[in-house]
Amino acid sequence: MPSYFSHFVHRQWVLNVPKPTASFASKVAIVTGGNSGLGKESVKHLVRLGASKVIIASRNKSKGEQAKLEILSSMRCSADVLEVWELDIESPTSIKAFVDRANRLDRLDALLNNAGVSTVKYKLSYGTEQAVGVNVIGTILLAIQLVPKLKETARAFGVTPHMTFTQSALYRLAKYPENPGDDIFAYMGNEKNVLMASQNQYHISKLMLNWAIIKLSSIVDPIKSQDPNPIVINSVDPMFCKTGIARDLPIQIKLIFKVFEFVFARPAEEGARRIVTAASSGRETHGQYLQSDGQLIYEDVVISNEGVKRGNYVWDLLCKKLEEIQPGVLANLRSS
Ligand SMILES: NC(=O)c1ccc[n+]([C@@H]2O[C@H](COP(=O)([O-])OP(=O)(O)OC[C@H]3O[C@@H](n4cnc5c(N)ncnc54)[C@H](OP(=O)(O)O)[C@@H]3O)[C@@H](O)[C@H]2O)c1
Repeated sequence: MPSYFSHFVHRQWVLNVPKPTASFASKVAIVTGGNSGLGKESVKHLVRLGASKVIIASRNKSKGEQAKLEILSSMRCSADVLEVWELDIESPTSIKAFVDRANRLDRLDALLNNAGVSTVKYKLSYGTEQAVGVNVIGTILLAIQLVPKLKETARAFGVTPHMTFTQSALYRLAKYPENPGDDIFAYMGNEKNVLMASQNQYHISKLMLNWAIIKLSSIVDPIKSQDPNPIVINSVDPMFCKTGIARDLPIQIKLIFKVFEFVFARPAEEGARRIVTAASSGRETHGQYLQSDGQLIYEDVVISNEGVKRGNYVWDLLCKKLEEIQPGVLANLRSS
């Protein structure tokens, strides 16, 4: 734990985080959770780097429009560059409608899977605890369905589209259950098994997301792929930043959190630098987790023998669950 803490302090107080510089000229990007926090700041970086269109995916249309107005006034870009599309990651119908719309775009160069929740109120989503439902099931349900569009863009324009997930270094703190039985989603869907106040459900959701990303990228354009136009799928730690992520905390915990945030948090703009840098990184980052310092390192909890075993188990269950939610969805991977 001391090494985790010293790493944390270094990341929050010392680390130099350069602004991304790769051009997004003529590129089209989608940012989920683009109405707030790290997502909104990522939209700003993409606009600054010349993107021709950035779609703010927001579950609440008016919040998205508000973010668009704010970005337009601070960036002074053309209003045509920004579009607000509704997307609720807890609703397969909303995800499907969003994907159908995205498939009508001329191109899709970057999908920033950034939306996520961290809450201490127990709620169900997709039949499991909400953080797991949103950060893993809904996020991957969307991601899988947009793989073909990214691949199509790669082929049509001879470019390297990116799918970047906003991860969290907190995955390392996950206390994965010793015996989740034959379905960890059902296990986490039982309130008795989730110690909400400890935030372990959030840590577990990000650990499971790591495994899903590793598996997804081993199926879509694996690193040794002969495809002349492979895409890049990666994830990134945006550091601890001041955003709306803790808005649902009960008042007593919120007060402590606010002090902690005041002392340690970086501005969301700096976290977004890391996200947009990942969304323009090379093929060597495919399937990888970019630490805040840019190093590509998975902790043992992900890649040890036990980690790999758990990852296989989680991925198999996730695929089963996704097919139950939307029959035929995995065909998006076979055709890619
Ligand atoms: N802040 C940090 O220190 C930190 C550190 C590591 C990782 N992260 C990750 O960064 C990502 C962005 O979080 P943030 O810190 O920027 O917090 P935030 O300001 O609360 O942003 C989260 C975004 O996700 C959206 N969202 C939540 N549930 C959704 C759903 N069901 N459908 C569609 N959108 C949904 C939120 O929409 P609403 O505005 O409608 O709620 C909001 O736009 C998350 O994945 C989080 O886990 C954050």
